Amino acid sequence: MQLLGTVLAIIAFGGTTIANAFQVSPSGMTVVLDGISYFVPPTPVASFSLGHSSQASSLKSAGTLVPFTFVNANGRSFGVSDLDSAISKNGAADDVWSKGFLSGVYILSSASHSLKPGSGVEVILSSKDTPLSKAIPPGPYVVDTSSGSIFEAWRLYSDENQSFLYGTIPDGKGGFTELSANIEGAATVSVAVPSRLYFTPSAQKPLAGARIAIKDIFDIKGLRTGCGNRAFFQLYPPKNATCPAVQRLIDGGAVIVAKAKASQFANGESATDDWVDYHAPYNPRGDGYQDGSSSSTGSGTSIAAYPWLDYAVGSDTGGSMRGPAGANGVFGNRPSHGAVPLDDVMPLSPELDTAGIFSRDAKSWKVAGDWWYQNFTQFNKFPKTILFPTDEWGSSFLTHPPRAGSADAMFNAFIQKLEGFLNTTRTEISLTTLWNASSPLIANVSSPPPPLRTVLNTTYADLITLDQIALVADPFIADFKAAHAGQSPFIDPAPLARWDYGRTLDPATRKPEAITNKTVFMNWFQDVVLNGTNEETCSNAIFLYPQSSGGTFYRNEYISPPSAPFGFGSSRIAVHAEVPDMVVPVGELPYNSTISLTTETLPVTISFIAQKNCDLMLFSLFAALQDAGIVNPVITGQKMFT
Ligand SMILES: *[C@@H]1O[C@H](CO)[C@@H](O)[C@H](O)[C@H]1NC(C)=O
Ligand SMILES: *[C@@H]1O[C@H](CO)[C@@H](O)[C@H](O)[C@H]1NC(C)=O
Ligand SMILES: *[C@@H]1O[C@H](CO)[C@@H](O)[C@H](O)[C@H]1NC(C)=O
Ligand SMILES: *[C@@H]1O[C@H](CO)[C@@H](O)[C@H](O)[C@H]1NC(C)=O
Ligand SMILES: *[C@@H]1O[C@H](CO)[C@@H](O)[C@H](O)[C@H]1NC(C)=O
Ligand SMILES: *[C@@H]1O[C@H](CO)[C@@H](O)[C@H](O)[C@H]1NC(C)=O
Ligand SMILES: *[C@@H]1O[C@H](CO)[C@@H](O)[C@H](O)[C@H]1NC(C)=O
Ligand SMILES: *[C@@H]1O[C@H](CO)[C@@H](O)[C@H](O)[C@H]1NC(C)=O
Ligand SMILES: *[C@@H]1O[C@H](CO)[C@@H](O)[C@H](O)[C@H]1NC(C)=O
Ligand SMILES: *[C@@H]1O[C@H](CO)[C@@H](O)[C@H](O)[C@H]1NC(C)=O
Repeated sequence: MQLLGTVLAIIAFGGTTIANAFQVSPSGMTVVLDGISYFVPPTPVASFSLGHSSQASSLKSAGTLVPFTFVNANGRSFGVSDLDSAISKNGAADDVWSKGFLSGVYILSSASHSLKPGSGVEVILSSKDTPLSKAIPPGPYVVDTSSGSIFEAWRLYSDENQSFLYGTIPDGKGGFTELSANIEGAATVSVAVPSRLYFTPSAQKPLAGARIAIKDIFDIKGLRTGCGNRAFFQLYPPKNATCPAVQRLIDGGAVIVAKAKASQFANGESATDDWVDYHAPYNPRGDGYQDGSSSSTGSGTSIAAYPWLDYAVGSDTGGSMRGPAGANGVFGNRPSHGAVPLDDVMPLSPELDTAGIFSRDAKSWKVAGDWWYQNFTQFNKFPKTILFPTDEWGSSFLTHPPRAGSADAMFNAFIQKLEGFLNTTRTEISLTTLWNASSPLIANVSSPPPPLRTVLNTTYADLITLDQIALVADPFIADFKAAHAGQSPFIDPAPLARWDYGRTLDPATRKPEAITNKTVFMNWFQDVVLNGTNEETCSNAIFLYPQSSGGTFYRNEYISPPSAPFGFGSSRIAVHAEVPDMVVPVGELPYNSTISLTTETLPVTISFIAQKNCDLMLFSLFAALQDAGIVNPVITGQKMFT
């Protein structure tokens, strides 16, 4: 190891208050330790007084800023073997701590210790000889030897897949600021993450230390909300309150580390043509040049790309969680409608909007879901009915066993294991046959009823455009014009095409009609298809359909111009029926990439639908399936599985 003074190179320094005449606001500093960049927040977490002890002179001779490892001794005398076990524990548990932080060791104990400097450890302090001003958890810190101030060390990572708008750090006043630090040589934003050693999850704080990125349509105190539009980002000042949905995660201990890119105003956009104001985030799977789906694009790509990120929050109105979960091969959910309050979140349509969370692991996913969807009931018994809607699965699936090596074969093998786990067999249903036989529209209109693709053809497009024009587009355009001498803001082609469609409709008649059609479908799907509720298993049934099947969607191919989203398909079921739709990774399929000119793999994922407000039953089911080895956690990068 190098000597301390050269190990820590100061790259930038925020400054301090110097005089009353002018004020310099500290914004922290970036330091490099053994080639790794760290962010040191501007405010110390504690301090110690060195006096004139021998420790003071050895500490000062070690340098101005000394990296320290604070260790717990649990009241016992601390020796060399305790330090060795702390080192191996820290190395395994935390990506922020490194051996470079062993220049100083501080033992959080007033008992005696038998450590002596050596093996790179230059200074040893303890609560006995050098008491702290305030208790702090163990972990890596940086000590300013001129003042005795102790600062946290946050590791900096590059946003290589361009998933984020900016990194965020707590401002110490209940809000956040944009991270000022950057990694030298990184042509992208940086994100700072705190040491995992600072946090201990508990029942009150199950998400303690969990690093979460938030889609940039959720308001967070101190930060601007951009909604994927540059003019919108610039027009409005930083928010003065955090929306309740994100606050609930913070209250559970989560650390918000970044604002993730969203396609514009959370409308569907495809890479790369549609993304005019911002460049679309990169889907890390396969050749790295596949569309990451939308609109929670940055949230989905980041959780698939960065092992240092634990969760990412997005929203789903018409598929904005499920599409990215499928394309990026991660767990991602559209919850029951109303699962979390959406005040201070940009709306597409309040009747349809929901907030979901991405994860790479079914058990961590459950921890977040159980905490976030606090008003739902836990269920640990699972439905015995697996609904297999034949109209949603390819006909090849039904007439003969799926071709070996196909996505259908992968789905079939997964469903067979699910059948074994639930001790049941799938029930084949046809939505069309059921609708023809039991639609509430039969008596009123005709027999058979108008098909679902007629009843629901424009329902989604009508609701999102009418609502978003009234709630977002018109107020924004008016505010922008007022601030810019009558000029209009730039709007990406996709939201513009949708709003143009919405402006042809009469809200007074069209919106009630759309709500009526949605409600007819919802009641039918909940009561007839899902067959109501069950005291033991919440939902009587689970309903499966394919989410992604390993297909390509190259981001360097030119696509057709955007239009309003008409039509009906399986991804619209949960939208109108208000039920949860949760995406689970199943496997990955090979393809010959036109980019890398080698064989790569892309995600195969399945969607689980259950009765409204039965979300926690599904979270428990996936955790149990993971314990049983039927569902597997995914890793980051090109491949989902090792
Ligand atoms: C995505 O990020 C990973 C690191 O997590 C990096 O290896 C990869 O090159 C990035 N992909 C693209 C297309 O930038
Ligand atoms: C917060 O901002 C909103 C509008 O952006 C404003 O109406 C409200 O008064 C502000 N509250 C405070 C405490 O500043
Ligand atoms: C859940 O319950 C809490 C406490 O009663 C309440 O404040 C909150 O609004 C509820 N959330 C939802 C989404 O209903
Ligand atoms: C599975 O279900 C069958 C009948 O459906 C029953 O006889 C059997 O005991 C069940 N097995 C288990 C392990 O629950
Ligand atoms: C359902 O009814 C439609 C007419 O609305 C008809 O075209 C279709 O064949 C019927 N489908 C089934 C499976 O009964
Ligand atoms: C169908 O007719 C029944 C009886 O007239 C009525 O109660 C129901 O609301 C109607 N349904 C729809 C969707 O119009
Ligand atoms: C859906 O609505 C659009 C726009 O009105 C129309 O062009 C299209 O033909 C409709 N499709 C169906 C299946 O009704
Ligand atoms: C509602 O459903 C009827 C068929 O029952 C269809 O003709 C109409 O276009 C639908 N309207 C909307 C707004 O979804
Ligand atoms: C609906 O659920 C009930 C239990 O709640 C069950 O007895 C009945 O068989 C189910 N019907 C169908 C069609 O699955
Ligand atoms: C890739 O191309 C080779 C050569 O044309 C072909 O044999 C192979 O089946 C292809 N693999 C996939 C997954 O399409």
